[in-house]
Amino acid sequence: MTSRHFPVIPAETIRRFDVAGPRYTSYPTAPEWTTDFGPADHARAIWQAATNNPDEPISLYVHLPFCHSLCTFCGCNVIVSKDRSRPEAYIDQLFREMDLVASLLGQRRTLSQIHWGGGTPTFLTEAQIQRLWQGIAQRFRVLPDAEIAIEVHPGHTTTSQLDVLAGLGFNRLSMGVQDFDPRVQDLIGRHQSIEQTELVVNHARGLGFTGINFDLIYGLPGQNTAAWAETLREVNRLRPDRLAVYSFAYLPTLRAQQRKIPLAELPMGPDKLGLLGQAHDALVDAGYRPIGFDHFALPGDGLVRALNARTVGRNFQGFTVTAAPDTVAFGITGISDIGGSYAQNVKKPTAYAEALAAGHLPVERGLCLTEDDVRRRRWINQLLCNDWLRLDRMELGGLEDELGDLEKREEEGLIERQWLTDGALDITLTELGRVFARHVAMVFDNRLRAKKGTDRPLYSKAV
Ligand SMILES: C[S@@+](CC[C@H](N)C(=O)[O-])C[C@H]1O[C@@H](n2cnc3c(N)ncnc32)[C@H](O)[C@@H]1O
Ligand code: SF4
Repeated sequence: MTSRHFPVIPAETIRRFDVAGPRYTSYPTAPEWTTDFGPADHARAIWQAATNNPDEPISLYVHLPFCHSLCTFCGCNVIVSKDRSRPEAYIDQLFREMDLVASLLGQRRTLSQIHWGGGTPTFLTEAQIQRLWQGIAQRFRVLPDAEIAIEVHPGHTTTSQLDVLAGLGFNRLSMGVQDFDPRVQDLIGRHQSIEQTELVVNHARGLGFTGINFDLIYGLPGQNTAAWAETLREVNRLRPDRLAVYSFAYLPTLRAQQRKIPLAELPMGPDKLGLLGQAHDALVDAGYRPIGFDHFALPGDGLVRALNARTVGRNFQGFTVTAAPDTVAFGITGISDIGGSYAQNVKKPTAYAEALAAGHLPVERGLCLTEDDVRRRRWINQLLCNDWLRLDRMELGGLEDELGDLEKREEEGLIERQWLTDGALDITLTELGRVFARHVAMVFDNRLRAKKGTDRPLYSKAV
C-alpha cells in the first residue's frame, strides 16, 4: 500500500542511489541486442509466433518520426521538417513493411492494441492519417474493443484532426506537456500554451476519447518548485486520466541538441528528486494513484484496477492493464517484441527505404531471449509494474547471488522480504524502494551482473 506522501530522502541516500542504470523498458536491455540478429531471425520469430498461437490477438505499433521543430531536451529519434508531403513516401514504405509482416503472420492478424507513436504523429495531414489507417485496416482485423492510441503535440494538433481520429476509432490520446512554465519552455525550445492544451483535451473529451494521458518531465532546465507547483495546478485542473512524470534523461553525448541546454540551469540530485516528490504529492492529493514510481492514474482507470489485482504489465509504449501481447512494430526505430525475441528497425530513413525497396525486413539488431531471460523479464516487470514479486520455491533454485543482493537491498531499506510457509519469497518495494526500483530490478539482471566496471553501457542516472 502506498502512503500519500513521497518519502523524505536524505541527501546521502540520494547520492548513493543516483547512479547510471537501465530503465528496464525491456529485459534484456537494448545495449544487449546485437546485429547478429537480423531480418531472417525476425521473420522466423513472427512465423513461429503465428504458427504457435494463431488465434491470439497482437499489438501493432507504428513509428511516425516527423516533428515540426526539435525540442532541445528531446531524446527521441525524429525527423524535423516543414514539408507536410514528406510522410507520403514514408507511408508507402510502411505499407511495404506491413505486407512483408502480414504474409508471415498468416491468419494471425487480429489487433487488440494499436499505437501510433513518434515523433509527432499529428504531423500527418488528415488525408495522410486516413490513408495510413486504411492501409492498416486492409491488412489487419481490428477488434471492436481494441485500444487505439496516438501521441500528439497539443501545439500542433487541430480539432479537425481529432475529429478524423475519433471517426476512425482512436480512443486514447497521449500528449506531451512537459512543463507549462514559459521560462522552462524557452530553455527547452518548445512553446505550448495552457490554452492550446486545454482546447485539445476538451475537444477530445467531447469526441468520446476515454483515455487521455499527459507526459510531464521533471529535471528540465529552469524548473523550480514555485513554477512547477503552478504547472501541477493546471494539470490537475485539466485532469487527464493518466500521467507519466518522466525523469529528464540528459545524455548530451548521444543527443547533440541537449548540448544547448545550460548546465547551470539543470536541477540535480535532491533538487531534481524534490520535483518528482512535489509532483507525486500534488497528484496523490488530487486523487491520482501512483503506478510504478513515475506514472499516475485516476481511480476509475483500468490501470488502478489492474494494480489492485497486481496484473499491471507493460510494453514499449507504457503500462498496460494485462500482460502485453506480442507486438509488431513498423517504421524507423520500431521495436517488435514477438515470438520470444526483440527486433529493432534501422534508424536511418534511407536505410529503411532501401531495405524495403529490396523486399527485406528493415531490421538492424535484436535478440532471441533465452528461457532464463524470459523468467528474469517476468520478475523485473512484475516488480516495476506492481511493486511486488513472488518467487516460488522452484524459481529460487540457483539464485544464491540474487538472494544475497536482496538481503543488502533490504538492509538499505529498499524492499521487505517475507518467506512464506511453502518456501516462496515475497518481495515488496518500500516507499524508498519504489523511488529506486531500478536498483532492485538490477538484482535480477544477469547480463549486467556478468559485466564489469567500464564494460557497462551508457545509461542515464536513476533520479
Ligand atoms: C514522442 S514524444 C510525445 C508526443 C509529441 N512529440 C510531443 O512532444 O508532444 C514522447 C515523450 O517522450 C518524453 N521525452 C522525450 N525526450 C525525453 C528526455 N530526454 N527525457 C525524458 N523524457 C523525454 C516526453 O515527455 C515526450 O512527451
Ligand atoms: S518532444 Fe515531441 S515534438 Fe519535441 S522533438 Fe521530441 S518528439 Fe518532437
